[in-house]
Amino acid sequence: MIRRYDFGHPYDTGAVVRQLPVCEDRVPHFAVAQDGCRVSFSAPLGENDMIFGLGESVRGINKRGHLYRAWNSDDFSHTENKASLYASHNLLLFSGKTGVFGAYFDDPGAVTFDLGYTRGDEAVITSENGDLSVYIIEGDTLIGLVREFRHLIGRSYLPPKWGLGYIQSRWGYASESDLRTVVKEHRERHIPLDTISMDIDYMEEYKDFTWNRETFPDMAGMIADLKADHIRVMPIIDAGVKVAPGDPTYEEGMANDYFCRKENGDVFIGAVWPGRAVFPDFLREDVRRWFGDKYRPLLETGVEAIWNDMNEPAIFYSEEGLAAAYQKADELREKNIAIHDYFALKDAFANMSNSMDDYRRFFHVIDGKPVRHDKVHNLFGAMMTKAGAQGMKAVRPGKRPLIFSRASFIGAHRDGGVWQGDNNAWWGHLLLNLKELAGLNMCGFLYTGADLGGFGCNTTEDLLLRWLQLGVFTPLMRNHAADGTRDQEIYRFRNWEDMRDVLTVRYALIPYLYSELVKAAEKNDMMFRPLAFDYPRDEDACRTEDQLMLGDGCMIAPVYEQNARGRHVYLPEDMLLVRFRSSTDYDLVPMQKGHHWLRLQLNEFPLFIRKGHVIPMAGAAEYVEAIDASALTLLGWLDHGTVITLYDDDGESDVIDFQAGLTVIDVQVKDGVVAARAEGRTVDASRVVLD
Ligand code: GLC
Repeated sequence: MIRRYDFGHPYDTGAVVRQLPVCEDRVPHFAVAQDGCRVSFSAPLGENDMIFGLGESVRGINKRGHLYRAWNSDDFSHTENKASLYASHNLLLFSGKTGVFGAYFDDPGAVTFDLGYTRGDEAVITSENGDLSVYIIEGDTLIGLVREFRHLIGRSYLPPKWGLGYIQSRWGYASESDLRTVVKEHRERHIPLDTISMDIDYMEEYKDFTWNRETFPDMAGMIADLKADHIRVMPIIDAGVKVAPGDPTYEEGMANDYFCRKENGDVFIGAVWPGRAVFPDFLREDVRRWFGDKYRPLLETGVEAIWNDMNEPAIFYSEEGLAAAYQKADELREKNIAIHDYFALKDAFANMSNSMDDYRRFFHVIDGKPVRHDKVHNLFGAMMTKAGAQGMKAVRPGKRPLIFSRASFIGAHRDGGVWQGDNNAWWGHLLLNLKELAGLNMCGFLYTGADLGGFGCNTTEDLLLRWLQLGVFTPLMRNHAADGTRDQEIYRFRNWEDMRDVLTVRYALIPYLYSELVKAAEKNDMMFRPLAFDYPRDEDACRTEDQLMLGDGCMIAPVYEQNARGRHVYLPEDMLLVRFRSSTDYDLVPMQKGHHWLRLQLNEFPLFIRKGHVIPMAGAAEYVEAIDASALTLLGWLDHGTVITLYDDDGESDVIDFQAGLTVIDVQVKDGVVAARAEGRTVDASRVVLD
């Protein structure tokens, strides 16, 4: 059951799709306090209570013990001490001795979540603006709370099936020949690949919806050639529109008053990649329609996938911010710059980016009235995604668009996916990738993944290999790196064959992963769950921070440490270890419930299948459309028969006929022999282990 409580004048954020009546009684579970316009909600925490949620955020799966702030931030160096990432997903799930409950704070402005940080025995959630709806979710189980919440916020976005294929990306592919070479190197070595992305380098002077005609002289021809090789092209679109007289996007936006303005009526100018840029007011429906329509020429040139970026929005500096920094420098020019002045000088420039002052400088128009940006900051990226998704659907009606974004707010989970932003080539960020999957899934973001190998810093061959081994399971599987870092395509490395073999597992598992993804969307479920959700009475499971349940039948446990040749793993029940080296080379090891040290050579990674379950694998393929899902090999450990269902469809229609897409695979065990049947498919049960 969900109840809604309103404070101040809540904005219609679009997060929730079912309108609930506003309750007038006291908010359950929380003590509410007002301080000026701030509203705080406090709840006592028992010694062993756990808190889950917050979607894409730093730190653990269990969020307790730290301070988080909902404030979409462009922070490429997100370390543990940070409070904000690129997204604001204000859902909390509390689990303690007396049961579970959830709370969703539907507030597009800044919200702090002090979850046992200031006081270890108290959670305090504070809305800085005090204009919000709070939804209290009651239920018996954590997964039950998630399902209730997801019903409230509407069905998750689903990508086309080929969106589960491997994506190769890099900031720095500067020309048609760069892209063709990368594709060729993959195809020649039989490294599976479905999509190649184009980062800002394809644009003409970083202007949205343009491309450089010298370096990409025949965009349509290039895209058609790559498509013939079963490769899709995915350009980036940035939120900031370059101030460029003569550029149609800039001119049209100016002529129609589509860009955000300052209090004095001037259009707000902030710098991003192109230097001075203006910001479409994505919170307006007419602006979204216009911006969405700007994708059309790219799509008509053959583009089928888009990533939206810099939409927190990132602002490197404003003219005002830059002027203030120069002024500080001038003030100090003649001085002996000692300790305090030194910091003041440094901060004047360093704090110029993404500054609160700038976010207070410009306005949106909501219902005809100006609203200062900081009050609704966290909606900006979500509304850009909405614009892009609408634009893509208009060009290819009836088809699912492939679109993902950096910034997001709950609600955007219906329009597109998210990637987890600018991580680094750090082992800690490999683990963070796993942890974020759990939170993101709670909040409806199912099509997600991180920059495999790490975006910033130079990756290493073992880090990339281990990260790909996790990426095998994430619906969005993309290798992406920053300009200036070491080349990070698989074929650049000595052990590229091991990496390619990892991808063979991915492609063999796509029928299963796609099925689990669609099921999770259809049933408001999570594809990845913390162990605490499945084994709430098992203390060791509840405290596990480096493993996740996958779908109904599996558990993942990646290696995330340098030079490790194994890891500790906790099995909350008997499970079959599949130790993969490739899609055709793996060991099957039945393992008992409990703690284990698992040996895993560099080229080996585990998937655990719960006893009593089986999962299907297809044969090898180098792109998604080549996967033959009519012949499946089953992996599992059984002592008696079981039935599994596998969802499949044409992979692109936006109407999902769920029942029609299900195939029943009937697995029978008789006299020590296992046999399986499924209509329209060949099913090989010879790899199913029997008790
Ligand atoms: C941002 C994006 C990153 C991209 C870069 C250049 O940092 O997060 O993925 O490569 O901008 O466009």
